Amino acid sequence: MAIVIAVANQKGGCGKTTISMNIAGALAREGNYKVLLIDADPQASAMQWRRNSEESALPFDIQPFPHPLLHKEINKLGANYEIVFIDCPPGGGGSSAPSGDVSREICLSALRAADVVLVPIRPTPVDYHASHTLLPMIRDVAFLNEKLKVFIVINGKATGRTKLGEQAISFASDLFQIEGAYIRVLQNEICTRQSFAQSPLEGKIVVDFDGTSKAADEIRNVTEELVQCLVNANEAQLTSAV
Ligand SMILES: Nc1ncnc2c1ncn2[C@@H]1O[C@H](COP(=O)(O)OP(=O)(O)O)[C@@H](O)[C@H]1O
Ligand SMILES: [Mg+2]
Repeated sequence: MAIVIAVANQKGGCGKTTISMNIAGALAREGNYKVLLIDADPQASAMQWRRNSEESALPFDIQPFPHPLLHKEINKLGANYEIVFIDCPPGGGGSSAPSGDVSREICLSALRAADVVLVPIRPTPVDYHASHTLLPMIRDVAFLNEKLKVFIVINGKATGRTKLGEQAISFASDLFQIEGAYIRVLQNEICTRQSFAQSPLEGKIVVDFDGTSKAADEIRNVTEELVQCLVNANEAQLTSAV
């Protein structure tokens, strides 16, 4: 059974596609994992990214599946892989979104399918507020999917010293809490860097675009921390089950 990581946040432009493509890429390229990325966004940005790429420039597979039945199909889709990412659509998570809204249904389905939800958040007050509306959805899904773990990653931090940047991790840790749910804010952050915006135009992930760049280092660090967090969380679960 593959580990399923849904990258979700109803805020458009917070970096879901950037983060899912680059972490999927780092795990495949440098961890040698067999990785599938499911493009669950009807806007199909991940598919577009791949179309910009020369044949086989990406070290993992991408498959479009923008449907609310993802949780039922996930075992079949991920059968030949060790890790499956789901790049979720924006706009679906708010508590004000009507049921029947397609993005919302896809996002719910992805969360039901997932072992892990990775939530990229830009460290601005407007983005914190918008991202916060994902919490009721996570709470609802946590009842159906007890194994679900939530990791938040700060994306798009200013490279210089700013108050918002320096407080991002502690602010997000205070804000994103649900009683009984497993939520952690990653200690490694991702800054605003040109390579993240430029690499998709060549169909590349940052570790291939410029492997010695700060962007590539940040992706490696976040990926390593995510893997370590998963190992720790599973050990804690095993211990508490004994
Ligand atoms: N850390 C970053 N540094 C620079 N540009 C970024 C960063 N993260 C995302 N972007 C850019 O911001 C835009 C939106 O990112 P994207 O990953 O498509 O967001 P989402 O999938 O959440 O809508 C894209 O043009 C992307 O290249
Ligand atoms: Mg996207």
